[in-house]
Amino acid sequence: MGSLEELLRQRLAGAFENVAGVPVDPAFRRSQHADFQSDAALGLARRLRANPRDLATRIVAEASLGDLCDSVEVSGPGFINLTVSNTVLASMVSEVSRDDRLGVSTVEPETVVVDYSAPNAAKEMHVGHLRSTIIGDAAVRLLEWLGHQVVRQNHLGDWGTPFGMLIEHLLDVGETEAAHELSVGDLNGFYTEARRKFDGSADFQERSRRRVVLLQNGDEATLRLWRLLVTESKQYFMTVYAQLEVRLAEGDFAGESAYNAALAPVIDELRRLGLLRDSQGADCVFPEGFTNRAGEPLPLIVRKRDGGFGYATTDLAAVRHRVQDLKATRLLYVVGLPQRQHLEMVFAVAAEAGWLAPPARAAHIGFGSVLGADGKVLRSRAGGTIKLVALLDEALERAARLIAEKNPDLDADTRAEVARAVGIGAVKYADLSTDRGKDYVFDFARMLSFDGNTAPYLQYAHARIQSIFRKGGLTPNRDGRLIQVTEPAERALVIELLGFPAVVNEVAQTLEFHRLAGYLYGLSTTFTAFYERCPVLKAEGIVRDSRLVLCDLTARVLAQGLDLLGITAPQRM
Ligand code: ARG
Repeated sequence: MGSLEELLRQRLAGAFENVAGVPVDPAFRRSQHADFQSDAALGLARRLRANPRDLATRIVAEASLGDLCDSVEVSGPGFINLTVSNTVLASMVSEVSRDDRLGVSTVEPETVVVDYSAPNAAKEMHVGHLRSTIIGDAAVRLLEWLGHQVVRQNHLGDWGTPFGMLIEHLLDVGETEAAHELSVGDLNGFYTEARRKFDGSADFQERSRRRVVLLQNGDEATLRLWRLLVTESKQYFMTVYAQLEVRLAEGDFAGESAYNAALAPVIDELRRLGLLRDSQGADCVFPEGFTNRAGEPLPLIVRKRDGGFGYATTDLAAVRHRVQDLKATRLLYVVGLPQRQHLEMVFAVAAEAGWLAPPARAAHIGFGSVLGADGKVLRSRAGGTIKLVALLDEALERAARLIAEKNPDLDADTRAEVARAVGIGAVKYADLSTDRGKDYVFDFARMLSFDGNTAPYLQYAHARIQSIFRKGGLTPNRDGRLIQVTEPAERALVIELLGFPAVVNEVAQTLEFHRLAGYLYGLSTTFTAFYERCPVLKAEGIVRDSRLVLCDLTARVLAQGLDLLGITAPQRM
């Protein structure tokens, strides 16, 4: 079943194309003046030097929307105003209310790799990793729900020169103590101490350098210590993921070290393809189209002067693996915006090498920073990296206090459950409801507010609908035969409900989750207006039944939409 908006847009687009002879975007949107409006005839008239009203009238005639609309009007200088018929609204919303998928069809499945979270072993996760984890989890949920084959890849930073210093520090403090520090999540303490010694002692530096060589040469004793660092860190990260209720599992770690054996072959192939160039002793690729400010070609360094491979080489090996072995056709990289150029260059080199060729394509799902109240990148009071777990703990504590205040009658278990859903939900929603390209301010008071575009507001809207059914002692009727749509507030709600598939499909392309969040917020405010104007439990007969179906459907769309964002919608709050 096509959604209402898609249906209308297609019809109108067809009419525009027939009249203009070329495809025209009907610029079709919701409107104050009718249900939907298109102003595309104005622009087209300018291009064709035609009278816009005449043109609009011809398009309207061509579109023959009589089966869907009660009125199709040309207004003002040439706007096309559509008012959908109540019967069409009623029959479409009835169909959706019977549908477990709420009108959203499954798609032609594709294998999608989502590269997200990707913290660094023996180093605290920072808010950038938090954003990546939250956005990546939403991407995974949405794409899986649409029927795609999703492969989660947690590109853990578990290799490279810092491990020389980390292993030496581990030997200094002793294995048991090191394992303890890491497993309780004192990654910052461990890393900072190692770094301090490295910066302060030539002897320690020398030991660290020798250790890196041992590690790279596969010395078994060194590898064992390295494994210990990585394993303990992974276990700690798993506790953070559990706290966040994201779908990342132990088996989704595909750390940088996993590509070690593939690095030399990657270089060999680049050389064979004639793509390698020497630049001051380093092996580089200069992908087409990348220049520095002075206009000189930019290198992607794939082998350093000292012979070592780096971050870029690993990413090239990862692209190759994802396309060739995992058979992915869509690669999504949920990584902060500062790495845009790195990733674009990796994609370009992979394309030049033929590893990334249609239908396979890669996209950087970039995001901005998380700021503190001072407008600067979020830091702890002492000025260091903020501990993610501390942030989440605080969200949970505040949510628990809030719920205890709002609803003291809830039993302890339910209260704890609701506090979890609200606390974690608020953190996730604050992130997902802002345009990911922008920075956002991490503000507990705002994200936990019951007013405005927040998780608690939406969760509360959902729980309130559930309470209508509880109060009435009713179970929602989902046979979909009863719906009647007449009142303006009712029509507005139905049109909103029918808009869910279009938003979901759009977000599956753009991964701009703030559009889904905005949709859910709009749906709840539309519902509130409906509930104020249209009595539900006090209505009678078919009107009451119809309105109950609309209430239930609103709750289902809210719960499903929140679930796609990784947020739980409790039954009561
Ligand atoms: N570990 C990296 C960091 O903390 C992020 C890795 C992103 N993924 C990738 N394939 N490069 O910055």
